[in-house]
Amino acid sequence: MANYEEVFRKVVAHAKEYGFIFQSSELYDGLGAVYDYGPNGVELKNNIRDYWWKSMVNMNDNIVGLDSAIFMHPATWKASGHVDAFNDPLIDNKDSKKRYRADVLIEEHVARIESKIEKEVKKAAKRFGDSFDEEQFVSTNPRVVGYKEKCTSIMQRFAQAMNDNDLVDVKALIEELGIVCPFSGTKNWTDVRQFNLMFKTQMGSTADGATDLYLRPETAQGIFVNFLNVQKTARMKLPFGIAQTGKAFRNEIVARQFIFRMREFEQMEMQFFVRPGQEMKWYEHWKESRMQWHLSLGIDKEQFRFHDHDNLAHYANAACDIEFKFPFGFKELEGIHSRTDFDLKSHQEHSGRKVQYFDPEINESYVPYVVETSIGLDRMFLTILSNSYQEEEVNGENRLVLSIPPMLSPVKAAILPLTKKDGLPEKAKEILKSLQYDFNCQYEEKDSIGKRYRRQDAIGTPYCITVDHQSLENHTVTLRDRDTMQQERIAIEQLHRLISKKVGLNRD
Ligand code: GAP
Repeated sequence: MANYEEVFRKVVAHAKEYGFIFQSSELYDGLGAVYDYGPNGVELKNNIRDYWWKSMVNMNDNIVGLDSAIFMHPATWKASGHVDAFNDPLIDNKDSKKRYRADVLIEEHVARIESKIEKEVKKAAKRFGDSFDEEQFVSTNPRVVGYKEKCTSIMQRFAQAMNDNDLVDVKALIEELGIVCPFSGTKNWTDVRQFNLMFKTQMGSTADGATDLYLRPETAQGIFVNFLNVQKTARMKLPFGIAQTGKAFRNEIVARQFIFRMREFEQMEMQFFVRPGQEMKWYEHWKESRMQWHLSLGIDKEQFRFHDHDNLAHYANAACDIEFKFPFGFKELEGIHSRTDFDLKSHQEHSGRKVQYFDPEINESYVPYVVETSIGLDRMFLTILSNSYQEEEVNGENRLVLSIPPMLSPVKAAILPLTKKDGLPEKAKEILKSLQYDFNCQYEEKDSIGKRYRRQDAIGTPYCITVDHQSLENHTVTLRDRDTMQQERIAIEQLHRLISKKVGLNRD
């Protein structure tokens, strides 16, 4: 499908129609940038979280888990820098009264220039055929080189302005680039101002004694303040990691693109604690390891790229994103940050308690350095959903299939009696019962078998098991594979092993 907006629109509609995602409080016309996960959505979301947890915690001897509370002592957010620096630069268009993030306006402008580069590459690839050398073309073609220089210089100027907190120059840049409001089409902009993204609430009675609290904007701080608790009780030696998944909240100014940018979302984060001076080695290790995790899901490697941060966060000495090519372009999916000793040191200062590790190998106590991997579960969900959405023609008919990696599929097998009589439903339910302990299965007897196959394809079920009259005679069923659509006659006793092989993590 060529038209990306059209693809995205279809993915969003599909997510609702098949019970993956609903707008929050839809009955009351919805709540902006907040979403609910339906019956298939919650299964897929749980499976993605489990896969992350297994690969990060269970498969790594030196990483342990944690589940810290959303509410934290308010001093946490002063220490972490979020109270003073967790801001987005916002700008309003005076004509449309629409509000934008200044950084997003600039990044979108750069993305438009980058898409011109892509077009030039495609045109040249067609022109030169097999002899086309993309690397040479992008480094020598004057038009492409010009575009690339333009992108670099815009991003460098923006990064400099943000580092200097020079919001006047951010506005000047927007004006110089001729960026217009997509609604009014005008350049009638207000000044740029900073906006803190944390949600505030209160604990206790609303009288004088109530304490102001924040809903956590990242799960990471729960890990930092528990560093010593975990290190001591789990008897961990550096280098080691603490992982957790959980909700985070940000009062996003511009919350668009479905579940890409939400106000309530879930993160999967891991903080890896290392000896000072070793952080760059581990930063490279986790960059590579996290990219491999994405590729292990069978997604084409061309769909991912690294993007080094030009504008480092207040806590980082190196940072990059793993970007995924969403239907609306390459965007951040996961961040890998070398956070130095900023957080632990700051918690040490604000709490007045020592947050240090005694390293028996060098006989020294120090505040560890941290390398973090942080991925949004909802963004990963959108990655899987948009990557797996496929429309194809089969025997002159349209087939819509979600080619979700089988281990993540919401339903692993559908058990379908060919008819509703002659004892077939009873036999099918017997099979369902035997598989249900280990796999999420669905039983369906309504509609023609063809329609039932299509419904299962549309939610990404890897296997359909059809129970027919022969099943009663010789204890066999047909097993239909979602991707090949091939059907095989197999013994019922083989089902568990075959499904296990298809959806299990162990491929040996
Ligand atoms: N602890 C570091 C941290 O929170 P971040 O880059 O702000 O870093 C990490 O966020 C990840 O969380 C992002 O890469 C993204 O996947 C996800 N994320 C951040 N804001 C989000 C939002 N508003 N909606 C959905 N996911 C979000």
